[in-house]
Amino acid sequence: MRRSCVIGCGSYLPKQVLTNDDLADRVQTSDAWIVERTGIRERHIAAEGEMTSDLAREAAQVALRAAGLDAADLDLLVVATSTPDNTFPATATRVQAQLGMTGGAAFDVQAVCAGFVFALATADNFIKAGQANTALVIGAECFSRILDWEDRTTCVLFGDGAGAVVLRAEEGQGNSDDKGVLSTRLHSDGRHYDLLYVDGGVSSTQSTGHLRMTGREVFRHAVVNLAAVTEEAIAAAGVSTDAVDWLVPHQANKRILDATARRLGLPAEKMIVTVEHHANTSAASIPLAFSEAVGDGRICPGQLIVVEAMGGGFTWGAGVIRL
Ligand code: ACO
Repeated sequence: MRRSCVIGCGSYLPKQVLTNDDLADRVQTSDAWIVERTGIRERHIAAEGEMTSDLAREAAQVALRAAGLDAADLDLLVVATSTPDNTFPATATRVQAQLGMTGGAAFDVQAVCAGFVFALATADNFIKAGQANTALVIGAECFSRILDWEDRTTCVLFGDGAGAVVLRAEEGQGNSDDKGVLSTRLHSDGRHYDLLYVDGGVSSTQSTGHLRMTGREVFRHAVVNLAAVTEEAIAAAGVSTDAVDWLVPHQANKRILDATARRLGLPAEKMIVTVEHHANTSAASIPLAFSEAVGDGRICPGQLIVVEAMGGGFTWGAGVIRL
């Protein structure tokens, strides 16, 4: 059975750091409120002129080096983003050109904060179907460009960044001891469109718009949906929750992370948490957290990793990977 094995990862954070105290100078908030409600202390913000494709390219180059590959070796590039450089073409095509990848296909996937899991599932299914052999999956966002910096209920929650993983087709036995993506599960429910959305867009207002969110409702749905889809992906992979070495959740908010882990019966020590320093980087948050934990030696070859995320739409999903 063909499996999509993770053979490299990388990440990139813009240089500028915005602390909670910096935000307290702009809106009526405080470090204490933000830390207590979210666990966030600081976030990175893209420089003027720095675009999502720039962040994506930087992360991709690190991931390719880690994998020991050239861009020319890739036959699939999927960028998960809700903050593309332009309405079209896909940001992935700009990254493709900048990396020097001339063949294969490059396209964007849009599932907001669940984007990385959707992109991972897409690339995994291309590989399993035999339509791609070597894929680069990137999550990259400049959420700072769609925030209403006068709205304290949202502007304190998000940051910019990018992360990437390289997947390569390898033959497995078809059981849960295989290396690679063992399962992915995706869901969406458009009835909740208005709970988390951007109030602008090409066909509605012909403007970029700003992020709007009913935070409490999002929170309520997030914990239930994330726990359910994670259990679904773990069962589909044919493994048990006890066998999971690391949960790498979408980094929305420390309280959502803790509540989801509790519901799953996973000890907090098994969870990779970066929200304190990155805030919510939407589609970038999982590959950013994953790269950080690979880099510092917590995540190691052979381990069983679970990723999960929920975002606007709602969209949500999870995946199980053996490294
Ligand atoms: N600083 C100070 N006070 C604030 C701030 C702020 N930044 N933001 C809101 N408040 C105030 C509100 O105005 C309100 O004041 P009031 O009682 O006088 O009206 C009070 O704090 C409580 O507001 P709530 O919205 O009820 O606060 P809550 O405890 O729900 O926390 C939060 C808000 C942190 C947004 C929470 O609802 C949450 O985490 N929701 C999940 C949202 C999320 O993570 N979304 C990311 C995208 S989806 C995803 O990634 C899963």
